[in-house]
Amino acid sequence: MKNIESKLTESRSYKPNESFKKKANINKTILFELNSQYKKTPDMFWSELAKKHIDWIEEFKTVCSGSAPFFRWFEEGKLNVSSNCLDRHINKNKKAIIHISEDNNKTVITYDELYVLVNNFSHSLKKLGLVKGDRVIIYMPTIPEAITAMLACARLGVIHSIVFAGFSSESLKDRINDCNAKIVITVNAFKRNGKIIKAKNTVDHALSLGCPSIEKCIIYKNINENTKFNKDKDLWWHDILAKESIVVEPEIMSSEDLLFILYTSGSTGKPKGIVHSSAGYLLNCILTNKWVFDLKDDDLFWCTADIGWITGHSYVVYGPLATGSTILIYDGAPTYPKADRFWEIIEANKVTIFYTAPTAIRTLMKLGEHLPRKYNLNSLRLLGTVGEPINPKAWVWYQSNIGSKKCPIVDTWWQTETGAHMIAPIPGVTQTIPGTCTHPLPGIDVDIVDDNGNSINKCNQGGNLVIRKPWPSMLRGIWNDEKRYKQTYWEKYNNKYYITGDTARLDNNGNIWIMGRSDDVVNVSGHRLGTMEIESAIVSHEYVAESAVVSYQHEIKGEAIHAFVTLKNNFTEYNNTEFAKELREWVKEKIGSIAKPERISFSDSLPKTRSGKIMRRLLRNLARGEDISGDTSTLENENILTQLKNIL
Ligand code: WTA
Repeated sequence: MKNIESKLTESRSYKPNESFKKKANINKTILFELNSQYKKTPDMFWSELAKKHIDWIEEFKTVCSGSAPFFRWFEEGKLNVSSNCLDRHINKNKKAIIHISEDNNKTVITYDELYVLVNNFSHSLKKLGLVKGDRVIIYMPTIPEAITAMLACARLGVIHSIVFAGFSSESLKDRINDCNAKIVITVNAFKRNGKIIKAKNTVDHALSLGCPSIEKCIIYKNINENTKFNKDKDLWWHDILAKESIVVEPEIMSSEDLLFILYTSGSTGKPKGIVHSSAGYLLNCILTNKWVFDLKDDDLFWCTADIGWITGHSYVVYGPLATGSTILIYDGAPTYPKADRFWEIIEANKVTIFYTAPTAIRTLMKLGEHLPRKYNLNSLRLLGTVGEPINPKAWVWYQSNIGSKKCPIVDTWWQTETGAHMIAPIPGVTQTIPGTCTHPLPGIDVDIVDDNGNSINKCNQGGNLVIRKPWPSMLRGIWNDEKRYKQTYWEKYNNKYYITGDTARLDNNGNIWIMGRSDDVVNVSGHRLGTMEIESAIVSHEYVAESAVVSYQHEIKGEAIHAFVTLKNNFTEYNNTEFAKELREWVKEKIGSIAKPERISFSDSLPKTRSGKIMRRLLRNLARGEDISGDTSTLENENILTQLKNIL
């Protein structure tokens, strides 16, 4: 592998403040002890944590068994994930969920109430004949009933697979058929940006495309909106839910029994059904909530992710509920009805911990700091980000305008496949630098290697990010596709490491900088550069809101850089040709001549998935003059492709 060169430098750094440090769950001494225990006796390290944080029905004997690429954790142990999230927190009069709808209705549900809801819904599912190991699709927005459905499945040992409620009927059909689900649970409709989205119609359409395994469709009446009702297949949630409280004994599950399947996109069009186990997954969720989010009994934790993504699984549902915390969920658009919706919710509910994606931060940054300034955001004590590299400009904006310069920011690196955070700051200890997710967590052994699998020991030299040792919440495979599992994650280095697919570098202080996906590396005149670095340089320009960088074939340079750029609202009148020149010089100044984009296109927005990830694959097609290939059903703003095609 040729070197991936890094030219991005960042000199600002932030120490945790004294008052945060004093109360933090993890201080320097504890962190040191955790790291040294893992080094000395990894099995003992995981065993002690698993015994301490999980309620076991029967304790495990072995810690980690098997060999790459198939590991098993806490094998003989028996537990139930839903009772870890509910039964152990009842009778304490503790709030579990505060739900705010887009229409601003607020519902508060205690652990005791959630326990009753989950038991009753488990009873309904059981009566429909579902048994351990069956698959159920949940196609719902982030509302308390979706969480109820997840926990009810977990109570019965039924494997859930949540499909993000913005996905098309085609995507839904593919996922249903891949896992042969028996039941789909949905809502009649929901509101987004003030518009009514008829989720049940999408389900009907998916089923009409051919989903032979589906026996029943359960509909939760979420808003007042008529829906077609098919007497053979459909059931109303309120009709099948027992009126009196019924206790359903939790199914005794083995540690390795599957908890859920979650589909994620790979480099080909076909989504991969990532599968997660029960005990191992739960353990890392619990630990990272305590270590990275510093969750305490009196916190109100708002993770803005939809339950359709892994972040919603681990940091809306399983992690926070297993630690008995109170979560806030908001079922609406970030800028509806006004651009200050997030800040208003934080002030009104006194949110203490806020976790969102860089793309949301950049969008809100673009709208201006006068919006958060109108609100008292003093309740916040910690901020987090996830999903993409956060460029330093957005990081600093987040820290000063939302975190009042006092909140630590945890930039958390992880994947659907890893189940929980892998690389992230420990907020009471780690000195953070904008743009780096800092160090691996205790128990996580990462490395950066070259194409032959050798560690790259040189600072600022990029390579492939790998994880050297198994960890409890690692994926257990791809549903029904062992070959793809081995090929994607293990084969390149002969099962020696788990391959993340990301590229990264280490700086002089041992901080890890994610440079992008390995397929997002551009090679200009023999220099390989991470696209993220170029994007970060571009967006650090005052006029720029967002940017995505891809490469296309170039006669002389091999590959050349094409930058797609969105300007902030008040700068859109700027002369594009003039500004493109200026921006090229800017990048030259920030990174060097080598990174200067050959082409720059300006547009109103960039093609993004509904979870906010820029679809660089489509931009690559456009830049290379190719037809758009692969699946575009996850695209949020289809019109933007037409706009881009017209200007190219
Ligand atoms: C990227 C989301 C930089 C990365 C939890 C990873 C990040 C992919 C970060 C997984 C971060 C996630 N800094 N890049 N803090 N967090 N990524 O499966 O490329 O939706 O491989 O999981 O997002 O995306 P996924």
